[in-house]
Amino acid sequence: MRGRRRDDTCVFGSHTDFSALSTHCSRKYLYSPQRWRELLDFCGFFDVEGVDHVLDGKRILLIIGGGIAAYKSLELARLIRRRGGEVRAILTKAGQEFVTPLSVGGLTHDKVYTDLFDLTAEADMGHIQLSRDADLLVVCPATADLMAKIAHGRADDMASTALLATDKPVMIVPAMNVRMWEHAATQRNLTQLIADGVSVVGPTEGSMACGEFGPGRLVEPEDIVDAIEAKLGGAQLLAGRKAIVTAGPTHEPIDPVRYIANRSSGKQGYAIAEALARLGAETHLVSGPTALADPFGVQVTRVETAREMLAATEAALPADVAVCAAAVADWRADTSTNSKLKKDGSGQVPPLSLVENPDILATLSAAGAQRPQLVIGFAAETDDVIEQATAKRARKGCDWIVANDVSPGTGIMGGDDNTVHIITEGAAEHWDPMPKAQVATKLAARVAQALTS
Ligand code: CTP
Repeated sequence: MRGRRRDDTCVFGSHTDFSALSTHCSRKYLYSPQRWRELLDFCGFFDVEGVDHVLDGKRILLIIGGGIAAYKSLELARLIRRRGGEVRAILTKAGQEFVTPLSVGGLTHDKVYTDLFDLTAEADMGHIQLSRDADLLVVCPATADLMAKIAHGRADDMASTALLATDKPVMIVPAMNVRMWEHAATQRNLTQLIADGVSVVGPTEGSMACGEFGPGRLVEPEDIVDAIEAKLGGAQLLAGRKAIVTAGPTHEPIDPVRYIANRSSGKQGYAIAEALARLGAETHLVSGPTALADPFGVQVTRVETAREMLAATEAALPADVAVCAAAVADWRADTSTNSKLKKDGSGQVPPLSLVENPDILATLSAAGAQRPQLVIGFAAETDDVIEQATAKRARKGCDWIVANDVSPGTGIMGGDDNTVHIITEGAAEHWDPMPKAQVATKLAARVAQALTS
């Protein structure tokens, strides 16, 4: 969280639920945007301390669709303003079922547009001007219905009309039930939207409000603002560069039904691939088996074993940067059979002999003319993290090591947050705990700095 929040003074507690706050306040206390703003101000939401000015002067037209994730668009509006941007909002009819115009207006400091035939709004600012006055249109949450409307050029309300009338870039941040996201119709619309040049941020995967699990969750507001920043800030710092990222575990077969694996989720590597792509790098992700959706704008090769991962990585060369985030299995079964191993009733366990897998990071680091300019490895350690990672950097011949402590209890393995240390030649830089997506954004920025300086 950037800057200071006076949550301790907030009458609604430190983890304010905006939608509950909105309903509560609009019913009980507040009858004007001004009063609403005063209350939020009192809660510390408009602190100017720590404001980043990266979005200074940028105007975002935020179109809020009707989904359970709509309340997060309030946080998004706050974060855009915090980074210096201006936000004007259109709230769809369905969106008003989840957040109120008062709460949105309180955070955007502006009138909220809700209806195509609002004559005051038309006199004030027509929908065409509204859509062109912005630098970027952000649809958040983009529901299946809104995606279908944009893909098919429908224009039957303020939101869809603005989206059709605009000559500015459009970014959608989808959020919906996993089955709706995976439905052939939504995927068809998604393909059309991408072909039409719409930027798509997310969705991520996880458990959803509807109780199901899978891709369909709204990307966290911090990451959406990062994407907006990358889109608007002209931050295509890695345009023309090539990146390779390895991620996830590998599965090493013992027989057709059994394999050796580890607990890696692939989340950190996927986030890094997405962050590098956001900065304009042509990014190739070589992924072991994971449950994650392909990151947007990234070419993905899915593999099973360490040897397949090495082959796919080498095939992706040359590259300017390689980030080896995969938790490659160190060993594989010496002999894997095509027939299932069976108990023979004797009580004897079958012998399992192991051989070492190729080291992808070390291979890339020693690739001679093919060696990427910057080779980055990871070190997931449980003891003496910095010492082990420093030794690992020297042993593998890479340039940087991103070290983290994966001891039980840290929640890092498979979790959403990470605490990392960047080991470079003769130095160790310690980063505060932060979401894996933020680690990725920061690392990608650091890569861009190293490659372009
Ligand atoms: N790595 C790799 N290929 C392997 C093993 C590891 O590319 N066969 C890479 C990982 O992607 C990571 C780094 O090497 O970037 C360190 O991985 P780690 O498993 O921590 O190191 P190991 O060499 O396996 O050392 P150890 O498990 O003994 O700590």
